[in-house]
Order: sequence, then C-alpha cells, then structure tokens
Amino acid sequence: MSVGKSSLTLLEIASWHPTIAASRTEALAHALEGGDVLVLPKLAFAFEQGEERFLDAKWSDARAKNISFDAGKIKGAKGAPEDLADLGRMIARFANCASELIAALFPRYAPHQKRAQTSFRPHPALGRDVSWRKDDTRLHVDAFPSRPNRGERILRVFCNVNPRGEDRVWRVGERFEAMAEHLLPRVRTMRRFEAATLAALRVTKGRRSEYDHLMLGLHDGAKADIDYQRNSAQQEVRFAPGTTWICYSDQVMHAAMGGQFMLEQTIYLPLSALYQPDLSPIRVLERMTGRRLAA
Ligand code: SIN
Ligand code: FE
Repeated sequence: MSVGKSSLTLLEIASWHPTIAASRTEALAHALEGGDVLVLPKLAFAFEQGEERFLDAKWSDARAKNISFDAGKIKGAKGAPEDLADLGRMIARFANCASELIAALFPRYAPHQKRAQTSFRPHPALGRDVSWRKDDTRLHVDAFPSRPNRGERILRVFCNVNPRGEDRVWRVGERFEAMAEHLLPRVRTMRRFEAATLAALRVTKGRRSEYDHLMLGLHDGAKADIDYQRNSAQQEVRFAPGTTWICYSDQVMHAAMGGQFMLEQTIYLPLSALYQPDLSPIRVLERMTGRRLAA
C-alpha cells in the first residue's frame, strides 16, 4: 500500500472490537472528521467455511452494480434460496463487524449509529458502462439524489476481500474545503419551488435542503469537469486484500480505479454525534455561503 503525505491515517489493529484509549479516540476522530481515510491494513474479514464461493460475479443479477443487504433483505443477487441465505448471513456478519468496530473506536458515535445498507461488490471497479454522473472512477463526494440527508453524515467502512491478491485502487483528492472553494461558485442556486416539487413528485424521499442541493452540485460539478479530474491535487491509494478502511464519503474526494470484491457498510450519523461538528461539510458550506443550509 502506498501511504501518501496527508490524507491517510494508519491504524495497526487486528480486531473488530479493539480496546482503544480515550486519547487515541480523540486523535482518530480528529483525523476522520477532518477528512482523512483511516486505513487498517491488518483488519481482514474472516470468511467462514464455504463463503469463498461468493467471490464470483455470477452471484450478481447483473442489473444492479452491487449486491446489497438492507433491513434483512438481499437485493441484486441471483442463485438458489439456500445460497442466497448464506450470502445474506455473510453480508450481515460484515455489517455487525463494521458497526462494532465504529462503536469501539468512537464510543460517542455508538448510540447514534444508523445502519444503512451493506453492500458486497463482486464486479470489477473498472469497465462499467455508466453515465458520467454514475461514474465512480471520477473523483467525487457522495451525495444521494433521492435521499436528502440535511447535513447528516455518511460514514463508510470498506474491506477488500479479493482472493487473488488484487488491490482496491482509489484516487483520493484534495480536502473538502479546497474542493468546495473551487467548485461551489459554479453550483446554481436552488430554484424557489424546487425542493417542494421534487418531494411532491416523490423524486426525493422528504424535502431536499439547500445543503443537499449544494452537495449534489459539488458531486456533479466535480464529475463533469475533466480538467478538475486530471489536474486537481490527488494521490493514488492502494488497499491490499485483507485491508479495512473507514472514511466520511460525503467529505473525502474519492474515485475507485481498480480492484474487485469488496464489502462496504454505510452508517448515518447526526451532527450531534460528532466530536468536531465544525469540520463537517454542512458547517464548512455554511461558513462559505454565510447561510444556514438545513433547518
Ligand atoms: C465509491 O464509493 O464511489 C466507490 C468505492 C469503491 O467501489 O471502491
Ligand atoms: Fe462514492
């Protein structure tokens, strides 16, 4: 793995429920909430007997990019019911590992963690034929068009489970604030009845806040700008098999450039759970615009 100068913090733990000193938690929270990727090169996900068979793209139903598991239901997979039940158990075990890890590292988050979807990504990161907006090989921050989050954070835990020694390869871009200074001036303002209309048409689940609008604008603005993609500050980061990594994907500029077979857990956290809410994207954007961006 290449560890660059700035945005990675290494953590040499090998347990999904480590014991961590409070001072270490503070330092790690500062790094994570400041936009670092926490990299745990010794924390592998342990397969149980027979589960390696799932390291094959044939389990994907080929319509969805990922196999996902949410509220006890598996989606995007195909196979015999017994196999899919085993696959669901494997993904659910990863979900438990990921939430336990976050609760152990960051006790303040523990009671606030909202576990969202867990995904298993059996397809190669490269080679998917998608529109520029869905192209995750372009640097971006995550923002969901249909699920407004009004400043709530998107924390993600990833684990490379490749059986053939292939790294997951990312590009990690510049800090959120630098990116926003560059791209925010080009994001159009939200139209007067836009949020209400989108909610009424059920394009969005609930009302889009101005924060959501700006985050989508930054997501799209970065992905659409070829010059920004090529020339903005960035580093390649390689996550070897058996590596887990954690980041706020609504804050870290990231792009997936290679690799196959990864598990991922999404966790939502309210601003009130953070160690340093002032570092969060909503507070950064509020300082830049001089406005409250979500009620
Ligand atoms: C992404 O979250 O944009 C993609 C991450 C990955 O598939 O490695
Ligand atoms: Fe992403």
